[in-house]
Amino acid sequence: MKVCVVGTGYVGLTTGVSLAFLGHEVTCVDLDQEKVDMLRGGRCPIYEPGMEELLAEAAQNLTFTTSYAEGVPGADVVFVAVQTPSAPDGSPDLRYLRSAAESVAQSLDHEFTVVVNKSTVPIGSGNWVDAILRDSFATRTDRPENCEFSVASNPEFLREGNAIHDTLFPDRIVIGSDNPRALEVLNQLYRPLINQTFTPPSFQPRPDDTTAVPLVSTDLASAELIKYAANAFLALKISYVNEIGQLAGKVGADITEVARGIGLDQRIGSRFLEPGVGWGGSCFGKDTKALIATASEYKYDMPIVQAARDVNQRQREIAVERLQSELRILKGRKIGLLGVAFKPNTDDLRDSPALDIASLLVARGARVKLHDPIAGDRFRREYPEMAPHLSDTLDGVFDDCDAIVLVTKWAQYLELDWGKFVGLMRTPIVLDGRNVLDQERMERLGYKYIAMAG
Ligand code: UDX
Repeated sequence: MKVCVVGTGYVGLTTGVSLAFLGHEVTCVDLDQEKVDMLRGGRCPIYEPGMEELLAEAAQNLTFTTSYAEGVPGADVVFVAVQTPSAPDGSPDLRYLRSAAESVAQSLDHEFTVVVNKSTVPIGSGNWVDAILRDSFATRTDRPENCEFSVASNPEFLREGNAIHDTLFPDRIVIGSDNPRALEVLNQLYRPLINQTFTPPSFQPRPDDTTAVPLVSTDLASAELIKYAANAFLALKISYVNEIGQLAGKVGADITEVARGIGLDQRIGSRFLEPGVGWGGSCFGKDTKALIATASEYKYDMPIVQAARDVNQRQREIAVERLQSELRILKGRKIGLLGVAFKPNTDDLRDSPALDIASLLVARGARVKLHDPIAGDRFRREYPEMAPHLSDTLDGVFDDCDAIVLVTKWAQYLELDWGKFVGLMRTPIVLDGRNVLDQERMERLGYKYIAMAG
């Protein structure tokens, strides 16, 4: 099939490259010339393991352009995957989506095109995009005769750092539209994924338990709500384990054991029960906020989702309180934070716990040094005012340090030769922000170990 993808961020790029890999003819449109030039040269503008390899494997079916007129005409499916940043009131800012939809409508010419909202958009946006497409299409003097289009929602569930795996071997595919023909087109598009008939890329073998992928084919509003409800549920699962983790510390229970004990109940499930400094990233914070904002348009409260957000913020504060109660005085202390990215295997800094913890510490007069194996360059670019706090070396962080906080679970930190650095510190205190270090081992090496949760 002929596919156009508008926007080459995490979601757009992964969608475009994966569909090209599956054999569709894909054109990716992005207004950013620099990004397009990089992608044409086979380089990936984001850090995502395997993406450059997949780009190379799919190259013959892939075109990158800044022009809608090169991508949209003749397309069976147009994915719109532009950014939807949070507006100050918590609702997503749909400016980019509007202008993308207007531009798409100016180039539509195919007998039937499905325009898919791939960005996470508020419930009801499908109808909104449909109206924009129709208004913009109606302004054209060169309107083609036999040209129909319909809007669908196809939410994305990929995790950054695992984007290719999650796209090629998803738990499920969700498509939503009020037009049966649109659903049929998407069903066709995803056949190779649904039936798992493709040969996996050389570097990403098919998991043993993936034989076929369930398809949820539903109406527009349901597909839109599925995305928010799934992300909010995962977010509250993490906040729940964090809340229990704090209680575990008070009653003398071991949260790792507790999480294992409850997670083995198949109704609960063991994933997303890792306690720590809380979630970050582009989705959980934004989506929980947007869900609450949508509900409020209907004068409906969502106290459970709000509580998940509050607990998440409290975890950041608890990390700082732990340090304060250990060091007594934070003013003038040097605190080293290991990890700036919101999670390992990405250089994404959005809503990163490290940034919150660093700001809280600086506000209390501490001196902060940050380190990250991958996200340093991006941090310098995006937070130039905080750049002096970044250290390229671990020595620079540990040297004369009063306490270290493990914030991001990078493999490099888990495998670190911790014994080598203990002597550099002024007071060898380590706060394990992810509850992953071995307490006995750390104590043997001379550290004072503090767990984030019980
Ligand atoms: C998430 C969803 O998983 C994905 O389905 C959705 O489409 C986008 O948002 P992502 O933001 O890439 O993906 O990261 P994810 O791996 O889900 O982790 C989110 C955050 O939760 C990270 O900060 C991670 O460190 C934290 N987390 C995760 C925990 O604190 N504990 C856990 O048990 C799991």
